[in-house]
Amino acid sequence: MTNEIVADTYDIPQLRRDLHSTRFGHPLEYRDRVTSTNDRILDMARRGAPEGTVALTEEQTAGRGRRGHSWFSPPGMGIWTSFLLRPRLPGKHLPPLTLCAAYAVASCIEENTDVDLCIKWPNDILINDRKVAGILAETKNMLREGPCVVVGIGINVNHTLNVFPDELKASATSLRMVKNEPISRQPLFCKMVEKFESVYHMYLETGLRDILPKITSRLAWLGEMVEVNEPVKPTFGRIVEVNEDGSLSLETKDNRCIAIHSGTIRLIENA
Ligand code: BTN
Repeated sequence: MTNEIVADTYDIPQLRRDLHSTRFGHPLEYRDRVTSTNDRILDMARRGAPEGTVALTEEQTAGRGRRGHSWFSPPGMGIWTSFLLRPRLPGKHLPPLTLCAAYAVASCIEENTDVDLCIKWPNDILINDRKVAGILAETKNMLREGPCVVVGIGINVNHTLNVFPDELKASATSLRMVKNEPISRQPLFCKMVEKFESVYHMYLETGLRDILPKITSRLAWLGEMVEVNEPVKPTFGRIVEVNEDGSLSLETKDNRCIAIHSGTIRLIENA
C-alpha cells in the first residue's frame, strides 16, 4: 500500500452536525479565503452579529499576530478561526479572556493528540519551546452594543518544516511535526469550540478562580528567569504564578514581587 497523503479538508455540513456547543459556532461562517478571520468577525460584529459567532477559513491572506506581526496562514495546514464575544464586563476583566482561550486550546490539543504542551503567558501555546498556536484578542467598543471582543486563534496543525518560511523554521512547530503523522483538523476544531464555550462561561461566573490551577500547571518557564518586553522598558524576574486578574507575577533580583499586565516574555537561559 502506498503512503498516500490525503488532503485534510473541512466538510462544513458535517462539521455543523458534529458541533455540540450551545452558542459558540451558531452562526458559523466558513470561507475558503479571507484577509483575516478577526476582520470577518469585526465586520459581522459591526452589523450586529450575536455573541458566539465564529469565522473559520482555509487560508488567510493577511493573518495578524500580536504586536503588529503577521501570522503565517497557508491553506490546508492550520486552524484559523475567530470568535465574537460580547461580555458584559468592565474593561479590566477583558484581558484574561486571552488566557481562557489559551487554556481551551491547550487542553483540546492535549486530549486530541496526547502531546505535552505549555502556555507561554499570555497567549502562546508551545511544544518543546516552539510555538504551535497563538491567540490574538482585539477589543472594540460598539456605540449601541457595548464592548465586543474578537478572539482569534491560530493552530499550526499539518505543516511540515519546509512549509514554514525561513524566519519561522527555528521557532515554530506543528502538531504533525510533533506526532509524525497528519492530524484531522475538523474534530479538533469542534472540540475547541465546545471547550472554549465552557471555559468562557466558567470565567463569566467565577472569574479565573477555577481555571488558574489548570493554567499554572501548564505555565511555560515557571520558576525560571525571564525578560519581559513591556511597552516602556524591559523587566527581569522569575515567574512565580499567574494572578487572578490574569497578570503575571514575577520575583525580581531584589526580591520584590511585581505584576506584569502586558508584554512579551523571553526565557533567560542559564540564569
Ligand atoms: C500571535 O501569536 O501573535 C497571535 C496569532 C493569532 C493568529 C490567529 S489566526 C486566526 C485569527 N486571525 C488573525 O488574523 N489572527 C488570528
